[in-house]
Amino acid sequence: MGTLIKGGKVVSAAGTALADVLVDGETIAAVGAGIDAAGHEVVDAAGMLVLPGGIDVHTHLDMPFGGTVSADDYEWGTRAAAIGGTTMVIDFALQSMGHPMTEAFKTWRAKAEGKACIDYGLHMAVTDLGRGDAWLDDVDKMVAEGISSFKIFMAYPNVLMVDDRTIYKLMERTKQLGALVCVHAENGTVIDAIVQEALAAGHTGPLYHALTRPAIAEAEAVHRVVALSELAGGAKVYIVHVSCEEAMREVAAAQARGLPVMGETCTQYLVLSIEDDMGKPGFEDAKYVFTPPLREKRNQAPLWKAVKDNVLQVVSTDHCPFRFKDQKTLGLGNFTKIPNGGPGVENRMQLVYHHGVNAGRMSLERFVEVTAEAPAKIFGMYPRKGVLAAGSDADIVVWDPEAAYTIKAATQAMHTDYSIFEGFEVKGNARQVYSRGELVVEGGRFVGAVGRGRYVHREVPKG
Ligand code: URP
Ligand code: ZN
Ligand code: ZN
Repeated sequence: MGTLIKGGKVVSAAGTALADVLVDGETIAAVGAGIDAAGHEVVDAAGMLVLPGGIDVHTHLDMPFGGTVSADDYEWGTRAAAIGGTTMVIDFALQSMGHPMTEAFKTWRAKAEGKACIDYGLHMAVTDLGRGDAWLDDVDKMVAEGISSFKIFMAYPNVLMVDDRTIYKLMERTKQLGALVCVHAENGTVIDAIVQEALAAGHTGPLYHALTRPAIAEAEAVHRVVALSELAGGAKVYIVHVSCEEAMREVAAAQARGLPVMGETCTQYLVLSIEDDMGKPGFEDAKYVFTPPLREKRNQAPLWKAVKDNVLQVVSTDHCPFRFKDQKTLGLGNFTKIPNGGPGVENRMQLVYHHGVNAGRMSLERFVEVTAEAPAKIFGMYPRKGVLAAGSDADIVVWDPEAAYTIKAATQAMHTDYSIFEGFEVKGNARQVYSRGELVVEGGRFVGAVGRGRYVHREVPKG
């Protein structure tokens, strides 16, 4: 006996059609009109959209950062993801300086083991190529372990930042292997100088986190990393958390020249802004201290357009939650000590659907593309994930397009004592979520088993 999701509108990047979805065990057995219900458990999806489970390719679970550890571990982060209609995350294993990548891989697998509620993959964040670049060979080992994307930080000097030589050497290797380099693009050393000037002038409050990280510092880094990729023979690059028009234009310019450059933005940059969300009294702005920072509202329309026009291929969250009461407050009196990051994995699908599809900024099909299909393709797991088709994993969201929901910290699953989207009203929400055929969310409640999520071995994408 299988599960037959009957009578919904099945959506893919290519189109939408009334169809039934038959699930057999962990995979989809068939998608089509009028599948015979005999012998199957039937889920009535009339009036619903049936979507491939969301894939959030940018999360930081259980991550040591800023003198503390992100507030959601693999259990809580993936539980929250599932409730919001996301059935897979790709998290970052961080290589510690002086230690091989293989060690970081083991450490992050252990963090997820017994805790992940949905499937997960890992990017490897490279901080150190070792003496004589000996750990460049770890790149090959990581690819063999199912890591097809490597992350570098051009920001956070003395913590995670790598120099241009390291980027170049890494890219030479990823180019040979066909792997992807994901880039946090900001000019870390110049930002550091601006930060020191601000502190010396007595500007210590959280708003100065945003004011000391200008858009041009992001755009410059995008420009430079594109040049480094060209120098390395055309290595594939994916710019993470593009936050402003200036940086997005650098991505577009590279694409116009035919270079293999892709990018994502994140929900916060699409719906929040300095004008609307910062400048609050006291220390409240610390809730919005993430990197890149919130930008002026003028950036939102160009970013939405870039998502619609495929200049940016993906919308992710950069979910990196810290509690206000005992974590963000580490930076009272000095904004540089505020742990950088915000919560969001639970709300991505709701916000992109409501502010994207309902607001007429993108089609339903593009919504599915930027939240599921393109992530699966770019990060090497398509068609196993990211599409509802025979043979694919049965990661399915039954989405109620009429469900009204108000985002509130008090009712969220993420482990922060605030929401950066507090009070946002959305229409459209996950009603049922299936992960590899198993019902894991029903009516906003997680009903799956903790630890059932599996590591996904990703392939280096072709082409
Ligand atoms: O503020 C952020 N984004 N924290 C997580 C680390 C990063 O830069 O992605
Ligand atoms: Zn980053
Ligand atoms: Zn991040």
